Amino acid sequence: MKIAITSASGKLGATIVKQLISKIGKESVVAIARTPQNAAHLGVEVRKGDYNSREQFDEALKGVSRLLLVSGMDAPDKRIGQHRNVIQAAKSNGVEKVVYTSIIGLEEGTAFSPIVQSNRQTEADVRASGMDWSIGRNGIYIEPDLEYLDTYLQAGEIHNCAGDGRCTYTSRAELAVAYAKMLLDDHTSGKTYRLAGQPITQSELAEAINSVYHTNLKYKELSVRAYKEDRIAELGEFMGTIIAGIYEGIRKGANDVPSDFETLVGRPHLSPAQLIRNFQQQNP
Ligand SMILES: NC(=O)c1ccc[n+]([C@@H]2O[C@H](COP(=O)([O-])OP(=O)(O)OC[C@H]3O[C@@H](n4cnc5c(N)ncnc54)[C@H](OP(=O)(O)O)[C@@H]3O)[C@@H](O)[C@H]2O)c1
Repeated sequence: MKIAITSASGKLGATIVKQLISKIGKESVVAIARTPQNAAHLGVEVRKGDYNSREQFDEALKGVSRLLLVSGMDAPDKRIGQHRNVIQAAKSNGVEKVVYTSIIGLEEGTAFSPIVQSNRQTEADVRASGMDWSIGRNGIYIEPDLEYLDTYLQAGEIHNCAGDGRCTYTSRAELAVAYAKMLLDDHTSGKTYRLAGQPITQSELAEAINSVYHTNLKYKELSVRAYKEDRIAELGEFMGTIIAGIYEGIRKGANDVPSDFETLVGRPHLSPAQLIRNFQQQNP
């Protein structure tokens, strides 16, 4: 049985490849990447697959029985067609099961909602594909906040528009454990899992970071409008709007949802402090 992972050169795809190797060995894992050299370090067979090319996926999925489709990074309207290229190529190649990395979030009412809607459309496409399927709806990764720590420390604070909204942070490593389960365990087919940790506020996030890094960060709430302007100034219109929309969603409770992680994996999700300790150990 060959299991293929798309976007294997990215951080999530690579983490899932490594988790799968630990379960079934290198011979059974295929890394598919738009830029194959970026996935060469994984030490498994690498095949080329750009989401814009149905033809590349027709080739890349030959002999593959299970597939993990990692959601793309393009604008929402473009993503739906890109994901369809992969789903249709999988179907015509006789792939038995497709697993998709979707997202937790509000379908309406935030600047992030168009992205959530595009994920929901791909979920519908996966369910209607005729293949077995499992879907994970990912919580927010904690790693970007930790990669941003120096910036937070310079400011002495974490500032965003989440307010008192609670967020169920996860990590790519925790997600990799969950996706390996979905790829390997038949009883997960036909199910959609929210892959989320314990809900915490931004003040509690600052406290958890302080407890691990011995820092003294505070949390400062900004208005949605002020934070959006701040993010667009730093990241540009597209990414700034997305990031501000994510925190707007947290403010509105979009990420304060029950988690199916333990049901799927058979143990509780790691606590925020443990996620942060793990990151610190891996990035000393
Ligand atoms: N839950 C969250 O907090 C969160 C946060 C960020 C992103 N996400 C979502 O999760 C996904 C994976 O995140 P990540 O951390 O792995 O991101 P990442 O490390 O930035 O990796 C992005 C990957 O997308 C690949 N890619 C870009 N355009 C592509 C295309 N047209 N066809 C095929 N591959 C393409 C890149 O390939 P190259 O090597 O060729 O560049 C790279 O492997 C993202 O795509 C996004 O949808 C979720």
